[in-house]
Amino acid sequence: MRVLTIIPTYNELESLPKTLQRLREAVPASDVLVVDDNSPDGTGQLADRIAAGDSQVHVLHRKGKEGLGAAYIAGFKWGLDAGYEVLVEMDADGSHKPEQLPLLLDAVEQGADLAMGSRWVPGGSVVNWPLYRQAISRTGSTYARLMLGLDIKDVTGGFRAFRRSTLEKLNLDTVDSVGYGFQVDLAWRVSKLGLTIVERPITFVERELGASKMSGNIVLEAMVNVTKWGLAARWNTLNGKLSGKNKNTARQAGKA
Ligand code: GDD
Ligand code: MN
Repeated sequence: MRVLTIIPTYNELESLPKTLQRLREAVPASDVLVVDDNSPDGTGQLADRIAAGDSQVHVLHRKGKEGLGAAYIAGFKWGLDAGYEVLVEMDADGSHKPEQLPLLLDAVEQGADLAMGSRWVPGGSVVNWPLYRQAISRTGSTYARLMLGLDIKDVTGGFRAFRRSTLEKLNLDTVDSVGYGFQVDLAWRVSKLGLTIVERPITFVERELGASKMSGNIVLEAMVNVTKWGLAARWNTLNGKLSGKNKNTARQAGKA
């Protein structure tokens, strides 16, 4: 299978070279696309220099910081246009171990439409992740599970392998989640289509260099969206039941 690993970057000058090197060693068959949002620290130019010396590394430059979701959608489109069969999401900061990518690729090879790296299934773990981040992640995942009825333990995780056909069915143009809620959005869309999602345990290691781009707004956007989607889904189910009832009543009335 032709694999493209997409790595979004914003100010990852210190982390990116090591991550790229590890990825190229761990999964040499995978091509790489760095999607940089015009990082002020020069990550985009560094990526260009690495790409100049490695024909399997590509760089997509975007105008400015438009969020994780927008960067991934641009990366997916690039990869679909180029004919890749599996498209991978991976952070630049070393939190996702390239050495664990084969676990996800194997799952796709065995039939998964979406393979998700999971911190919150047995065998999964986090290393050096601050307690407040663990709390946000666990609470967020639980809330999304309850609101959306998702059978996924780590809904916001960002280490994933999508089968091409899965992305083709998602209507990427209608995704407007900007921040990390984008991850929930995509999992929700895949789940609604009834496609096969598998979670594989991963070890998430907190970055050693640079800073997280997580913010209060990102958490808020995800919460608001999950609430909206959950309520809309309930409303649709209820409406369906009601209109079903009305039809029955109408049928009965017709008979009478
Ligand atoms: N191009 C681009 N544009 N890249 C971005 C942007 C953006 O606006 N925001 C973040 N990134 C990149 C970072 O440079 C990094 O490679 C990756 O996205 C993850 O960002 P971090 O800031 O390191 O995320 P985190 O460690 O706080 O969050 C982790 O946990 C989240 C919640 O579980 C990640 O695993 C996320 O993917 C996950 O949703
Ligand atoms: Mn990170």
